[in-house]
Amino acid sequence: MTKRVAIFVSGGGSNMRALVEDMTGDHAGRPCLVLSNNADAGGIAWAQGQGIATEVVDHRPFGKDRPAFEAALSAALEAHAPDIICLAGFMRKLTEGFTDAWAGRMINIHPSLLPKYRGLHTHARALEAGDTEHGCTVHEVTAALDDGPILGQARIPVLPGDTAESLAERVLVQEHRLYPAVLRRFAAGEREPVLLTG
Ligand code: GRF
Repeated sequence: MTKRVAIFVSGGGSNMRALVEDMTGDHAGRPCLVLSNNADAGGIAWAQGQGIATEVVDHRPFGKDRPAFEAALSAALEAHAPDIICLAGFMRKLTEGFTDAWAGRMINIHPSLLPKYRGLHTHARALEAGDTEHGCTVHEVTAALDDGPILGQARIPVLPGDTAESLAERVLVQEHRLYPAVLRRFAAGEREPVLLTG
């Protein structure tokens, strides 16, 4: 049975595009919705151009009331009946109420080799620590930030002269390989981690 996939973005949505472009042929998933907390997200315009349904739920009117924001997210999701949610550069923290409701059905990509460097500025932190390798991780989403069972990782070497920007660029290339590879398996019900090297 086809799995309906909703993708949440906040920005350019390059990972979202990689996921959408892979959902053809024998892939068990198909995109049913691209949702953003930001009406100006480049990913929203691109999805509309592809004929994919979009929703915008601006977080700002809710202030610090995350549960109210999440209730609005749930209301926006209802008509689209997703089976799976992929967070792809979605820059809002989700609380337990939402993550529990989607446990085992919501995944995220994070630009570090988790459990290292949860949160922001991962590339700068890897450089500061003198790491010789870096990369990205796809994991199931739980209430703890950038935590949850790991479904795949892609590793790259840190090169002499690397900056946070050059690392971000090379990790993003790997994100575009890893996330589609993981979603393909996840949608088919497989949870064995995907391990890639760049
Ligand atoms: C990616 O590096 C993602 O891992 C991070 O934010 C970036 C989003 O890029 N959380 P895009 O919107 O998918 O282009």
